[in-house]
Amino acid sequence: MSAASPTTLPPRPFKVLLLLILVSLSTWFLWGELDYALTRDRTGEPVFRTWALIVHLTFATPLLLLPPLQFSRRFRLRWPLWHRRLGRAYLVASLIAGSLAIYLGLTFDLVGRRVPVVLFATLWVAFSAAAWWCARHRAFAAHERFVVRSYTIAVAFVIVRVMGQAEDVMFPFMPDPQLRGVTREWLCFVLPLLAVEAWYTWWPALRTPRPRAADARL
Ligand code: HEM
Repeated sequence: MSAASPTTLPPRPFKVLLLLILVSLSTWFLWGELDYALTRDRTGEPVFRTWALIVHLTFATPLLLLPPLQFSRRFRLRWPLWHRRLGRAYLVASLIAGSLAIYLGLTFDLVGRRVPVVLFATLWVAFSAAAWWCARHRAFAAHERFVVRSYTIAVAFVIVRVMGQAEDVMFPFMPDPQLRGVTREWLCFVLPLLAVEAWYTWWPALRTPRPRAADARL
């Protein structure tokens, strides 16, 4: 069998469209958030926390913009060395941004959001470490899946803000803004991770043809 070439790969329009939407939304929300983070009044904030926030956002920002390149099969086949270099940079940045997110979560002013943030920041670090481990052991299919899970957690940055814009439509039965905030914080991680696991595991399990009774007896 001949090796796949970048020009003969079958198109995957759904994947391209999804990545395009995610990168456009990421750019939009990053624009506003970075401006707010750099200009807001930090009186009363402990210096260590300010630095943790700055390092967190410095390493987290490229994580939303790099994946379309890394997930492109054409880029991977044409420039494997650059795929490896950028992949290493991506995973190191995720480990740093995720570890700091655990600390930021533990010290979050909005106490109701501490549990989901710490839980999913820990998963973020674990998925990134697992992706690196699988790549080192040349388990590339598992590597790709762990990178997707790590990116899915990073994308919560966007999903939570999209939900913030739509919360009157989503939660008309929940007038309390605190309760809405906590619900959004859980949903922005849980929903995309459920979708990823459904795509990888549940849907293929449902589609696997069951052995017919006659075959099973053989
Ligand atoms: C890769 C996507 C991400 C980007 C671009 C990003 C960026 C930012 C920015 C701009 C801030 C505000 C900094 C400030 O106000 O000075 C922030 C704060 C924070 N981020 Fe992230 N972040 C990302 C992902 C995450 C994830 C996945 C988590 C948790 C699992 C997380 C946890 C936090 C926490 C806890 C804070 C502090 C909130 C506060 O105290 O107001 N971030 N991040």
